[in-house]
Amino acid sequence: MSRTLSVHEAGLAVADPAAYSDEERLHEALTLLRRESPVHRVEAPGYNPFWAITKHADIMEIERDNKLFLSGQRTLLSTAEMDELQAQQRELGMELRTLVHMDDPQHRVVRAIGADWFRPKAMRAMQTRIDELARQYVDRMAELGGECDFVQQIAVHYPLYVILSLLGLPESDFSRMLQLTQELFGGQDEEMRRGESAEEQMNTVFEFFNYFNALTAARRENPTDDLASAIANAVVDGGPLSDTDTASYYVIVATAGHDTTSATISGGLHALLENPDQLRRLKDDPSLLPTATDEMIRWVTPVKEFMRTASADTEVRGVPIAKGESVLLSYPSANRDEDVFEDPFRFDVGRDPNRHLAFGFGVHYCLGAALARMEIQALYRELLPRLSSIELAGTPRWTSTTFVGGLKHLPIRYTLT
Ligand code: HEM
Repeated sequence: MSRTLSVHEAGLAVADPAAYSDEERLHEALTLLRRESPVHRVEAPGYNPFWAITKHADIMEIERDNKLFLSGQRTLLSTAEMDELQAQQRELGMELRTLVHMDDPQHRVVRAIGADWFRPKAMRAMQTRIDELARQYVDRMAELGGECDFVQQIAVHYPLYVILSLLGLPESDFSRMLQLTQELFGGQDEEMRRGESAEEQMNTVFEFFNYFNALTAARRENPTDDLASAIANAVVDGGPLSDTDTASYYVIVATAGHDTTSATISGGLHALLENPDQLRRLKDDPSLLPTATDEMIRWVTPVKEFMRTASADTEVRGVPIAKGESVLLSYPSANRDEDVFEDPFRFDVGRDPNRHLAFGFGVHYCLGAALARMEIQALYRELLPRLSSIELAGTPRWTSTTFVGGLKHLPIRYTLT
């Protein structure tokens, strides 16, 4: 028999990877927090304490003030053991330090290196390639003979292919990259992770570093016209980026551009399956693809959180936050906030306006947002007209994670022309 969740339990759910594999349980907890304790102190066993922020308006306000709320000290929720290990690595100068870990002035300079590559105009040059890849993957669905695990056989491959093509990596390395990104992001899911211990998980990070350090050396020797060359040969303060900063740049692009988009594509298909009226509406009116895409992104919200640390004593919604304390920005909660979205638990392919925070807000706003939207639209533009029937062929399963995730299995049966 189900029983009512307490506010304390709801707070613990925010830090519990398993809660994110059960959307109903997660949203029950987040809805309760929004209503009863929108700035809620969480002291979960195994984690350093933090404040869970669940209201859309508060998350925007925190992200807007990037001097008061810094990214560098505690970027993401991880176990106290992992926090400690990262502090040690920081001291040794071996820490993974990507854009999301940086604050100004460094963040502004480093972000500018890749920014031109991700502007909508530059992205439009990728359109033909992305359309080609979308067609290839829908063809592959057809070849699979009417039944597949949509996540494992289609959705995880297509966005990785796009992003690695943009970086300029050889196709022979794609499967290795797929495995490493899944290990890096699926670290809390027993099916995905490499090992139990923080050390074993850090090995994934080191493997990434080694691969990308070799790539940097190659592109410095023989620059080409890909994004990897732009990163390897960037000049900051009169010199190149350090090895760590260079490798970190690749890591953020390769990882951030991958699982996020594939989770949205599969979660979006699941939402269409669960809402046949919306599937029909979108098939009948393809001009809804842009709003449908943003609704899929809101619905799935594949990035579950980022954190900020207060650089001075302050308050949020009247609750005092002391200097040095951390806040967790709960994007899935912001994207179901009743004060912002009409009927937030309804999947509506025509939703407009749709002020979701799935890409974050402010100076760290997702660099790949235009690319992600293009990829999702390209796949559905190809798939929907060819799809004459679709149904579930088994039980969908979600990843256990507190960071990036979504469906890990979506068995479907379909007829494609
Ligand atoms: C940052 C979400 C796809 C690259 C972020 C952030 C979020 C996010 C929430 C942090 C924003 C903040 O702190 O305010 C998503 C979602 C995606 C997606 C939901 C897909 C649906 C991509 C793609 C790329 C990408 C395709 C391309 C490579 C990045 C980068 C950052 C970032 C480089 C760091 C920006 C910075 O810190 O300045 N993304 N992302 N993302 N994303 Fe995405």
